[in-house]
Amino acid sequence: MTSNSITLPPAYRLIALDSIGSTNEEAKRLARAGAADKTLVWARTQTAGKGRSGRAWISPEGNLYLSLILRPGCPAGRAAELGFAAALALAASLDRLVPGLDLAFKWPNDVLLGGRKLAGILIEAESDAAALDWLVLGLGVNVRTAPARTELPAAALSERGGGITVEALLAAFASDFLDWTTRWQGQGFAPIRHAWLARAKGRGGRVTVRLPKSTLQGTFIDLDADGALVLGPETPGGETRRITAGDVFFG
Ligand code: BTN
Repeated sequence: MTSNSITLPPAYRLIALDSIGSTNEEAKRLARAGAADKTLVWARTQTAGKGRSGRAWISPEGNLYLSLILRPGCPAGRAAELGFAAALALAASLDRLVPGLDLAFKWPNDVLLGGRKLAGILIEAESDAAALDWLVLGLGVNVRTAPARTELPAAALSERGGGITVEALLAAFASDFLDWTTRWQGQGFAPIRHAWLARAKGRGGRVTVRLPKSTLQGTFIDLDADGALVLGPETPGGETRRITAGDVFFG
């Protein structure tokens, strides 16, 4: 497929595809075969797109589907921090391309438009003992269409006009993500945590968190220094919980 109209920062190697099962699966295959840091797999459609928690990510033409191979050389436990950097990078790109959008973040890595899900991030990693060999960061953004009947209502950028193209968003995101990861390499997670919290939906309010085997309720208090959700007790004197994986529902 031609990708002539797209200029990414030189740090990236772009693999542009018309269609693939899942860009994350393709990126993982390439990573295992030794593909370099910042190899970016982009496809116009996916036939087996994957979301978090084993869900499908419906992937018609017109939306953005990309997966980045990263070899950040950090401990495996820090991989999740890059998901927050990606959400911030996407918001920075959208702020520039379509000023005035009411964007917010939902833990861990969703980007909301008007309270509905606009974009999702799926990180998959492979590590040897504690050291991270590589991670694949997958990003899906509803540019032209939003899926119907999702558990969390979905939104698309096209609802707000502006005629933003997938190519323009891809190039902007690649550049903003490079900026945020450079900051992360130099200053750690703290500035990312701070910027993410400033735009997080529902802080201080009641949330329900669905875990693989149970459901918790409490107050969304904070994001901790590792990116875990800090959930205040349901009843006075109860325990504060630190959640590292789960699905959040507001109210
Ligand atoms: C989520 O459930 O919110 C995460 C969605 C991640 C979807 C993207 S689309 C590009 C990449 N390839 C996939 O199969 N999934 C991710």
